[in-house]
Amino acid sequence: MTFTDKVVIVTGGSKGIGKSTAESFATQGAVVHIVDIDSNALNETLDELTAKDLQIFIHKADVSKKEEIDALFEEVHAKHGHIDILVNNAGVIRDNLFFKMTTGDWDLVMDVHLKGAFYCSQAAQKYMVQQNAGRIINISSTSALGNRGQANYATAKAGIQGFTKTLAIELGRFGITVNAVAPGFIETDMTRATAARINMDFDEFIQSRVELIPVRRSGKPEDIANAVMFFADDKASFVNGQILYVAGGPKA
Ligand SMILES: NC(=O)c1ccc[n+]([C@@H]2O[C@H](COP(=O)([O-])OP(=O)(O)OC[C@H]3O[C@@H](n4cnc5c(N)ncnc54)[C@H](O)[C@@H]3O)[C@@H](O)[C@H]2O)c1
Repeated sequence: MTFTDKVVIVTGGSKGIGKSTAESFATQGAVVHIVDIDSNALNETLDELTAKDLQIFIHKADVSKKEEIDALFEEVHAKHGHIDILVNNAGVIRDNLFFKMTTGDWDLVMDVHLKGAFYCSQAAQKYMVQQNAGRIINISSTSALGNRGQANYATAKAGIQGFTKTLAIELGRFGITVNAVAPGFIETDMTRATAARINMDFDEFIQSRVELIPVRRSGKPEDIANAVMFFADDKASFVNGQILYVAGGPKA
């Protein structure tokens, strides 16, 4: 198995893309630590994945709280002696047209996506530099290219791309690669919430989006997990600072 005994931390891993990513790594032999703010979803995911004999640990923590994140990474490192792969996946949306967007909705989206990736990557690199090895994979979005109603989210996801490229330049000499996956339309609670916000049935919403996607289907969490696994593989050590759009076409 490709990731035998690798220690992987997946933020926002109790649902959707993060959960699928956690399961994919664990299925390939990794020990996976899932970080999330949703206790119920964490417990459900733990029960579901351990029932499949996968090595999963859960942590309730907020990625935008530095003290919680530093303590968590220290705990994971103390337990295993290494942290090999970090997936910065935790995310929220607070969509609204720009003229109606509140400071609170702007700040929350920046805090979870940008501060979250900053705190987790900084905590991880401390150990990865000592190991002279590591993988950081960030989750951006096609919204980074601009998306109506998402001035906050598009800004954060574009920011993730600059963050990815800069970390790739700074950390490459320590055997650490930093890359990003930019998903298009993926069927998760997040897109379900978008459909609800615009008063559209989720299946109808999917159909309306599929018509715009060249491969004529919507994305599934596994589509993103597969791309994350590619960057995480030891064989991808010369792939660094890249943004891979996984959207069924050049952009969704
Ligand atoms: N679904 C899509 O179409 C899509 C497209 C592009 C990018 N993305 C990105 O993919 C990632 C995963 O999205 P998803 O669709 O699986 O969404 P999701 O809502 O199903 O999952 C997001 C997870 O992040 C957790 N989370 C939120 N705030 C947190 C915090 N402060 N600390 C820790 N955990 C927190 C949530 O509890 C949830 O479990 C996000 O970064 C999202 O922006 C999703």
